[in-house]
Amino acid sequence: MQAPDVPRPLEARRSGPLKGRVAVPGDKSISHRALILGALAIGETKISGLLEGDDVLATAAAMRRLGAHVAQDGEGEWRVHGVGVGGWSEPDDVLDFGNSGTGARLVMGAVATTGISVSFTGDASLRNRPMRRVLEPLTRFGARYVAREGGLMPLMVTGTAHPICIEHEVEVASAQVKSALLLAALNAPGRTYISQAALTRDHTERMLRAFGAEIAAEQRGDGGEAIAITGEAELRPVPIIVPADPSSAAFPLAAALLVQGSEVALPGVLLNPRRAGLLETLREMGATFAIENTRESGGEEIADIVARASLLHGVEVPPERAPAMIDEYPVLAVLAAFAEGRTVMRGLAELRVKESDRLAGIARGLTAIGANVEELEDGLIVYGVGPDGVKGGGRVATHMDHRLAMAFLVAGLASRESVSVDDSTMVRTSFPNFRQMMRAIGADISVPVR
Ligand code: S3P
Repeated sequence: MQAPDVPRPLEARRSGPLKGRVAVPGDKSISHRALILGALAIGETKISGLLEGDDVLATAAAMRRLGAHVAQDGEGEWRVHGVGVGGWSEPDDVLDFGNSGTGARLVMGAVATTGISVSFTGDASLRNRPMRRVLEPLTRFGARYVAREGGLMPLMVTGTAHPICIEHEVEVASAQVKSALLLAALNAPGRTYISQAALTRDHTERMLRAFGAEIAAEQRGDGGEAIAITGEAELRPVPIIVPADPSSAAFPLAAALLVQGSEVALPGVLLNPRRAGLLETLREMGATFAIENTRESGGEEIADIVARASLLHGVEVPPERAPAMIDEYPVLAVLAAFAEGRTVMRGLAELRVKESDRLAGIARGLTAIGANVEELEDGLIVYGVGPDGVKGGGRVATHMDHRLAMAFLVAGLASRESVSVDDSTMVRTSFPNFRQMMRAIGADISVPVR
């Protein structure tokens, strides 16, 4: 799944108010986990609302290569016939995870305690992302690996047929690392203890519990958490309903807040507290939105979000909120540019190792569209100039990063001149129908004529 040679630029410009009700696609994190746990369970897992973006499709292909049966029954409707914890077989080719850090890292975890060797690669963005943070702790279970200089892909993990359980504190605030270790622990006899100083997303823990694993999590006094999981688990399939992805919903939500006269409804959005940091921050910025019809679905809280155009003001985002909105900083930075006053975002060193160096990409993008921004080692300060203050007009480099592309297209919907992005190809990794959906609510996003 290499990036195509031909970039796909897109251009967004101001138009009338955005109106309507649109269902954003399924949550990316939950979709990956549904396929992986489905492939590790014994029997058939039915999934509805699966995100059919490139990242998740790469994980589906990987599950097939590892011996699970994965079938699509209809739009978002999938079935996975798993082979049991430790039951994966050695693939006869390299697994290519495309742009997806989540898919690659979680699968490395499950492979580590299975007696097979698996080679991993991805696109140019993924091949540049740090993998030692996962690989090193996996060696403690008994796995081995060889990787390119710096712990980069392509790499090969040789899992151990005789794993041991471990006690480990995850040093980075990463749900991917935590999840990889939990998946490895599934096949290690005894109890594994994983702790982390930050409260990162807990979809793996919730889904493992639903599949019958013995897993207990408790919050620590210092704000972190400790998780205990019992190995040699037998996972029993449960049907998974994937809620709408709050990280994708953030784009139409932000567009509705910025474009005068807009009102947009986003049904069934995941409200997991460890993913809801953007909503909290938007409230503090003065955004007008309602959370309606809160309900439970598949062990997660979901609700409809109805957002209206709002005058925003700058805020200081508490660094400890970062894990709960880590993927939302690109769009938050765009919102901050149209707010009145200064927005300070810190504690974001992790953004430098996402699909691109997002701190650099956001800063360069904001500068290109005439906004004022200061890039810090671990954050950004955006000097907002109010709803009509951003000139626009630039072409933003997206560096193979879907969220940079979508965030700056949203900026183009509100700035005085149009904004174009150099390449929108990667949008399909997480939000394949982004352009159609935005157009359905009235956004003017098109292929630039040059
Ligand atoms: C994810 C965890 C986060 C997030 C990514 C999805 C997951 O990454 O940025 O988009 O599904 O576990 P990190 O674990 O690297 O923080």
